[in-house]
Amino acid sequence: MKTEVISTVFDPELGANRGAQIILAGGLVAFPTETVYGLGANGLNPDAVRAIYAAKGRPTDNPSILHIAHKEQVKSLWRRVPDAAWKLMDTFWPGPLTLIAQRSDIVPDEVTGGLDTVAVRLPANRTAQLLIERAGVPIAAPSANMSGKPSPTCAGHVLHDMDGRIPLILDGGSCQYGVESTVLSLAGEPTILRPGAITREMLAAVIGEVRVAPSVLSPLKKGEVAASPGMKYKHYAPNAEVVVVSGTPEKAAKKIAELYCSLEMQGKKCEIAATEQTKDFYLEKKYVILGDRNYPETLCASLFASLREMDRRADCILAEGIPAEDAGMAYMNRLLRAAGFRMINV
Ligand code: TXA
Ligand code: MG
Repeated sequence: MKTEVISTVFDPELGANRGAQIILAGGLVAFPTETVYGLGANGLNPDAVRAIYAAKGRPTDNPSILHIAHKEQVKSLWRRVPDAAWKLMDTFWPGPLTLIAQRSDIVPDEVTGGLDTVAVRLPANRTAQLLIERAGVPIAAPSANMSGKPSPTCAGHVLHDMDGRIPLILDGGSCQYGVESTVLSLAGEPTILRPGAITREMLAAVIGEVRVAPSVLSPLKKGEVAASPGMKYKHYAPNAEVVVVSGTPEKAAKKIAELYCSLEMQGKKCEIAATEQTKDFYLEKKYVILGDRNYPETLCASLFASLREMDRRADCILAEGIPAEDAGMAYMNRLLRAAGFRMINV
């Protein structure tokens, strides 16, 4: 299959119309959102949703998010709209927040992986909105990477993973946030299953207490059931081995510099995921500056793209950990998974 790429930066109409045709014919379309690129299909067509899982090599019990263009669409997808959901939708939609509630009968099992809940989100991206609107159906879309790999934050990443596997990629440039949406379950006590740009503090300011699932920052223990099926799989992992070093900026950077030297002595090619604050510790070493430690959202915005870039050159990626608080939680959640939870505290 030839994969066509249509730019939507200056004119989203053409791409959205072409994409909607493909979606309605049961095909797959990769499209930009404000978080990462999604791989979309008609969310009400079981065969089309199955095709997403085949293209990604994704386990079928890992549920997908339904993307909508208007808040009112939740009424047909959820059995009942929780009161907290209306408040959150009014505050944060369109935007990087996914909400989970009991599903209605029209949602196919293929979307939910057999769960009785369904995740819904209204993305804040013009191309995504137009595509969903033109298709006139909710669009089921996981991130548009091969399963287990870092999520794509530009069309080039999607092409790298999906070339020849899907008919169309809508190229809307680089994604604003660079990490996936916050996933909040409202099926019981409000619980964050995946942290993102909308933080626990921001959610709590609107609906009161919000929990964070334990698996957000630690690996599942043996026999433990994942609140979110996606959390039991290896995730965001480049081919290179990733090691996280946490501590004060100075201590972490010194440890990383030391590890770098000993790994290079063993013949391994290393790269460092550095920050503005620590780059001077890495002179004469290979590093990429992700952003500013004091603004974790800058680290999030470049994390996946940097992992993909460093992965092309290195056998081992050494990355600084930051406190997993506020916006830092999303960063550490992705980084620790990319590292398979290999972390050194100094
Ligand atoms: O920003 C995003 O959310 C991107 C863009 C494309 O919208 N999408 C995305 O989808 O990251 P995906 O499939 O890669 O991640 C969805 C996560 C998975 O961890 C999945 O297990 C969880 O949400 N999830 C989806 N439906 C769920 C449900 N009903 N119950 C629990 N977890 C669910
Ligand atoms: Mg994903």
